[in-house]
Amino acid sequence: MYTMQSLAILFLASLVSAQVAPYGQCGGSSYTGTTTCEAGWVCQYQNEWYSQCVAATGTTTTTTSLTTSTTTKVSTTSTKTTSSTSTTSTTASSSTGFPIANGLEFTIDGETNYYAGTNSYWIGFLTDNDDVDLVMSHLNESDLRILRVWGFNDVNTVPSSGTVYFQLLTDGTATINTGADGLERLDYVVSSAEAHNIKLIINFVNNWSDYGGMAAYVTAYGGTQTGWYTNDDIQTAYRNYIQAVISRYSDSPAVFAWELANEPRCQGCDTSVIYDWVASTSAYIKSLDANHMVCIGDEGFGLDTDSDGSYPYTIGEGLNFTMNLGIDTIDFGTFHLYPDSWGTTYAWGDGWITAHGAACAAVGKPCLLEEYGVTSNHCAVEAPWQQTALGTTGVAGDMFWQYGDSISTGESPDDGNTIYYGTSDFTCLVTDHIAAIG
Ligand SMILES: *[C@@H]1O[C@H](CO)[C@@H](O)[C@H](O)[C@H]1NC(C)=O
Ligand SMILES: *[C@@H]1O[C@H](CO)[C@@H](O)[C@H](O)[C@H]1NC(C)=O
Ligand SMILES: *[C@@H]1O[C@H](CO)[C@@H](O)[C@H](O)[C@H]1NC(C)=O
Repeated sequence: MYTMQSLAILFLASLVSAQVAPYGQCGGSSYTGTTTCEAGWVCQYQNEWYSQCVAATGTTTTTTSLTTSTTTKVSTTSTKTTSSTSTTSTTASSSTGFPIANGLEFTIDGETNYYAGTNSYWIGFLTDNDDVDLVMSHLNESDLRILRVWGFNDVNTVPSSGTVYFQLLTDGTATINTGADGLERLDYVVSSAEAHNIKLIINFVNNWSDYGGMAAYVTAYGGTQTGWYTNDDIQTAYRNYIQAVISRYSDSPAVFAWELANEPRCQGCDTSVIYDWVASTSAYIKSLDANHMVCIGDEGFGLDTDSDGSYPYTIGEGLNFTMNLGIDTIDFGTFHLYPDSWGTTYAWGDGWITAHGAACAAVGKPCLLEEYGVTSNHCAVEAPWQQTALGTTGVAGDMFWQYGDSISTGESPDDGNTIYYGTSDFTCLVTDHIAAIG
């Protein structure tokens, strides 16, 4: 919804001035516009898909960056060289646009740091704007900068009036609900996040059947769950849905990253199945929106680095963490931590965290511990994991599962893992953790 108007304005502005405004896009593999920035600003390479006008101060490589224009492989290569020479001097100014992966860390609004965040799968399904604003203001005040939300809500039959859903999948047909009980609810989450300086990870489908998930596609189109990744009709519907969501928020500064799925698995499949799906879907997303980061949303399974041979390290669920992270349209790694579900000890979690940090450092991309939780003794079990994550090179942030608050309908959902705002667990896992991050 924001896209059309602002693109038109940008386009008109560039016709008039023939120069890109501060923080505007000035290059990238599918970019065809002006590559010259306004006086005092230079075009800086961010990644293959995106270069941005940043303040010229401190940049010594202006001329080279300016000459890198549009689509050829040759210019891409030369800009890559440029960026590595200018990174140190321009880190702060280059990052005042959208959130970026910056070496092994994230830069948000010009600040490169370790980031703490949380999950609220339910916030897009609330119907009272005040509840959304309440959560966002508490997140901002607590310095929980990144929030992961469900960007999907698939059904096979229309629910009762007043129940939010985003997509109806039935008899081989997908109908996206853009109405007041549909994506308008996600619109409000995005606009409230903008107002409260919160950055969102928005994902597009669930492996699990909560809120529909892959099973809802299979019900409508046939096939099997493991066949979901390669079924043409299903992938067409999934991509249409991705496009519908991205077109609404592609120029929003509140988007931290687009995420392919929640916990994709393909049990017993060759790792090439998920690898191919990640490679093609993430490239598709970059073709729609070259400016925001893209991640997978996987649990981090299938890791050779420091493996103890336990189930999560194996490729039994069809994922090879290192192989998938190597895909160049994936900006950072994701991993989760649930010893209760995986049959491991709590202390085992520390090794799981450091192993991912090492793997990510080896690939040269940051990793995000984007979900972790237990159902009791939250502070005693989870605080040590937070300290390990904070102290591990390659781990750029952590996000506990999940955030809780008192909203107009009562307490927000509790799956046993919930950490409620204002409780002593919240002080331990948020206030104290944020203080340690500094
Ligand atoms: C965000 O939190 C900071 C620090 O508590 C506060 O100064 C600021 O007003 C808050 N912004 C919004 C939009 O709530
Ligand atoms: C999620 O993935 C696992 C492993 O492939 C599978 O057993 C399970 O059925 C999936 N969930 C759904 C809802 O299909
Ligand atoms: C996972 O992928 C990496 C990188 O491609 C490879 O070196 C490794 O052998 C793979 N691991 C397994 C268990 O297949």
